[in-house]
Amino acid sequence: MATLLHIDSSVLPGEASSSRSVAAAFRGVWEEQHPGGTVIHRDLAADPVPHITAAAWTAGLAAPAARTPEQAAAFAVRETLIGELERADAVLIGAPMYNFSIPSTLKAWVDNVYLIGRTAGETPSAKGTPVVVVASRGGSYAPGTPREGFEFVQNYLEAVLRDTFGMDLEFIVPELTLSTRVPAMSDLIPLYEASRERAFEDAARKAKEVAERVAAA
Ligand SMILES: Cc1cc2nc3c(=O)[nH]c(=O)nc-3n(C[C@H](O)[C@H](O)[C@H](O)COP(=O)(O)O)c2cc1C
Repeated sequence: MATLLHIDSSVLPGEASSSRSVAAAFRGVWEEQHPGGTVIHRDLAADPVPHITAAAWTAGLAAPAARTPEQAAAFAVRETLIGELERADAVLIGAPMYNFSIPSTLKAWVDNVYLIGRTAGETPSAKGTPVVVVASRGGSYAPGTPREGFEFVQNYLEAVLRDTFGMDLEFIVPELTLSTRVPAMSDLIPLYEASRERAFEDAARKAKEVAERVAAA
């Protein structure tokens, strides 16, 4: 049975969050394709994972038998999170832009699952797993826009998920979400609405593609 690891990290709840809404649409289509499957849902805003500690990090560098009791206890959370990533046939991540980068809760998840010799290194354990990231943002950082160089969500997640973990990464980017709240951005509302519509279409299409690919594997 197929397993989807679904991670949300927006501080906004439900429909107030573009990344949660678009990810929920993806998940809905996925579940239609895999009715008997499993979805592991991590809501990092409601239930954050711990920041990496010295014991948790050094435990990852030591052989299991050589770990101190403190290291072994600290590593248990990492083991759970890494296990979820490794078990997943597909991964879905809501990654809103916060001050040009990912939410700190999502960074804490990355710090836990990034383990050289396992998820990173010569034969990364999640290599080839499809991962779809819903990268919502209040403005636009698309190529050619004035703030293109301030984009550290897609660049960062490409470096980690694609170039280090070897995952098969795709983005859905609902942008200009602040245009309905910030009066100075009101001219951009039609572009926001088009981006939102495209994001939901992309979510449905990519969910179907990924589900079919997993079913055929
Ligand atoms: C703490 C915080 C920082 C933010 N920083 C940025 C930013 O640097 N650039 C931007 O375009 N939008 C920024 N925003 C706006 C969010 O990216 C925007 O509201 C987006 O829709 C959030 O995703 P969500 O709708 O899934 O919650 C920020 C929002 C918050 C809460």
